Amino acid sequence: MPDQVPEVFAVFQCAICQGNDPVWTSSNRSDHAFGSPGRLMCTGCATAFKVRNGFLDLHPGDPEPIPPIQHLMQFPPIVAVYEALWRPIGYFIASKHSFPKDVDRIASLIQRKHGLILDLACGPGTFTRRIARLAPESIVIGFDLSAQMLERAVRLTRKERLRNVYYIRGSALSLPFKAGSFDAVTCCGALQLFRDQDQAVSEIARVLKMQGDFVCQTTLGPRKPPLWIRMADRMLKFGYFYLDDLKERLYRFNFDLQAEERSNINYIFRAAKSG
Ligand SMILES: C[S@@+](CC[C@H](N)C(=O)[O-])C[C@H]1O[C@@H](n2cnc3c(N)ncnc32)[C@H](O)[C@@H]1O
Ligand SMILES: [Zn+2]
Repeated sequence: MPDQVPEVFAVFQCAICQGNDPVWTSSNRSDHAFGSPGRLMCTGCATAFKVRNGFLDLHPGDPEPIPPIQHLMQFPPIVAVYEALWRPIGYFIASKHSFPKDVDRIASLIQRKHGLILDLACGPGTFTRRIARLAPESIVIGFDLSAQMLERAVRLTRKERLRNVYYIRGSALSLPFKAGSFDAVTCCGALQLFRDQDQAVSEIARVLKMQGDFVCQTTLGPRKPPLWIRMADRMLKFGYFYLDDLKERLYRFNFDLQAEERSNINYIFRAAKSG
């Protein structure tokens, strides 16, 4: 017999058929809906999406093409050292700032702390967990394409005994959520990596509520990058923005820039959805 659909699925919209009336079945007897295997069935296209290893996989089937740098994000040794080494070192080189301190600062840029928050491209859940702690009244969805990253995020979140977090696998380019679902969307270290950045920003705008916060940390590039950066980018496709292009894109998708901060090539901003 189908179980009562957990609250978090109220914002579900199937990325395949756009149906938004799922049926949830689970063997779960723990205090978290994803605590044991379960499945969410879309009544529109009859696709069954499974909860496995603590996250709901809304992106089964053919993997979407990803740039080389993203393949690294699925490579277990990189996933294992990502939060403790890779990210803080990369962040310090880019900004000359401490990563752990900035995680706190960036998380506290969120103005709407009582609703539903999406941490897009959450990786091992560094920001997801910090936000969940900072906003215990909220529900935080950590969302990523890499199953390996999500498995690590689930492990770390359980260790910290956070109950207001749900992890979902899917693509930033077709978010499986209804329009106007979220009070805030965060996206750190990832916007510059997406294959189609217009599509990603348009999806963020779609799923945000009016006046909802978009909090982002990304990387800027020089107008005339040195040869070695151009070569490295050509191989790895790590990507970066030109500041005026990024601002133009935010404007085009009806975001009002409300706070910004640049340190070296690191750029942090908060924008509100305005139209
Ligand atoms: C550099 S990591 C950032 C992780 C985390 N937000 C942080 O700040 O440490 C980039 C993440 O983007 C995810 N990613 C890449 N392409 C994606 C896509 N199309 N949809 C969702 N996540 C994606 C990768 O799997 C990876 O975990
Ligand atoms: Zn469907």
